[in-house]
Amino acid sequence: METRIRKIENPDCITQSVIDEAAKIIRSGGLVAFPTETVYGLGGNALDESAANKIYQAKGRPSDNPLIAHIANREQLYPLVKEVPRAAEILMEAYWPGPLTIIFKRSAAVPNSTTGGLDTVAVRMPEHPVARALIESAGVPVAAPSANISGRPSPTNALHVREDLMGKVDMIIDGGEVGIGLESTIVDLTGEIPVILRPGSITCDMLKEVLGEVAVDKAILEPLKKEVKPKAPGMKYRHYAPKADLIIVEGEPEPVAERINVLTQEQVGKGRRVGIIGTDESEPLYAEGIFSSIGLRADESTIAHNLYRVLRDFDRMEVDIIYSEGFSENKLGQAIMNRLSKAAGYRIIKV
Ligand code: TXA
Ligand code: MG
Repeated sequence: METRIRKIENPDCITQSVIDEAAKIIRSGGLVAFPTETVYGLGGNALDESAANKIYQAKGRPSDNPLIAHIANREQLYPLVKEVPRAAEILMEAYWPGPLTIIFKRSAAVPNSTTGGLDTVAVRMPEHPVARALIESAGVPVAAPSANISGRPSPTNALHVREDLMGKVDMIIDGGEVGIGLESTIVDLTGEIPVILRPGSITCDMLKEVLGEVAVDKAILEPLKKEVKPKAPGMKYRHYAPKADLIIVEGEPEPVAERINVLTQEQVGKGRRVGIIGTDESEPLYAEGIFSSIGLRADESTIAHNLYRVLRDFDRMEVDIIYSEGFSENKLGQAIMNRLSKAAGYRIIKV
C-alpha cells in the first residue's frame, strides 16, 4: 500500500485541503495516522467494523484489546453510550477537550471490533487542533490507538509513525512533535466509584479534586502479582518496550549513578553496547556508555515528553542493554514510572 505523507507545518493554522483528504479516507473505511496532544493516533471510522479490523492488522495488535473512540463534540458522544453518569458530566466539563479517556457503558451502535467484545466503550475528546479538525470533518467518531506497532514505544512525532507504519496505512499527517508524550489517563465510570485504569497527565489528584473519591486499578499499583488482571485489557501486554534489555535503578541520584557506572563497566567489559537514561542534572555523574538525557528532573513534563523518543533512539543505536534512573511517582511521575516499568518488564534494582 502506498502511504501518503502530508505535512501541516503549523497545527494552529490548519491546511484544510489536507484535513479534507484525510477525512475522506476515514469516511471510506481507510486509515490515517494523525497527531494528538498525547501521542500520534492511528485513526479509522469507529463505527465501521472492517476499519477497526484494519487497525488491528496494521498494528499487529491482539483483537481483544479495545480501541478508544475519539470525538470532536458532545453530540458525537450520546449515540455511543447507554448513559452519561453525573461523574462523566463533571469530568467532561473539567477536562475535555484534553488527555482524558472515559469508559462508559456502550450502546449497540459501537461494533464489537472497536470494543474488543466488551460491553463498555472508551471515549476521548482530544484537544490537538489537527485531531479536532480531522474528526469534525470526518463526521464520525474516530477509533485511534497509538500509531505504533503493537508492543513498541508510542510515537511522539511523525518519523516514529513512519518507522512503524509506512506502507500499512493510507496517510500519515505530520503535525510535528506532540506536546505531552504519554497516552491519556483512562478513568472507568461504569462501576460504583471512578477507577483509574491507566495513569496519565490528568493526575489522580486532579480527578479527586472534581470527583471526590477515586480508586486506582490494582494492576497499576501491584503489577508484579500475576493474579491481578488489569481492567484495561491493553495494560496486560508488555509494552512501550525498546529492543534492548531495560533495567531501572532506583534510589538517591549519587548511589544510583555509582551502581549504573559499575554495571555499565561490567557490560562494556563483555563487549556489549550500553545505553544510560539520566537527566540534565545527572549527566556529569556518568563516565562510560552512551548517555541520553530524558529531560530535567526538576520538570517532569520534560521527562514525559522525551521518554518514548529516548527509547526509540536507543533502538536505532542498537544498544544491547539500557540502564535507566528511576523517577518520583508524584503527579505526572505515576504515569512516567508506569510506562518505564512496563518497558523494563518490571526489572528494577533498588539501591
Ligand atoms: O492518548 C491516548 O489515549 C492515545 C491517543 C492516540 O489518543 N491512544 C491510545 O490508545 O493510547 P491505545 O489503543 O494505545 O490504548 C488504549 C487503552 C488500551 O490499554 C485498552 O485496553 C484500553 O485503552 N481500553 C480501550 N477500551 C476500553 C474499555 N472499554 N475498557 C477498558 N479499557 C479499555
Ligand atoms: Mg498504545
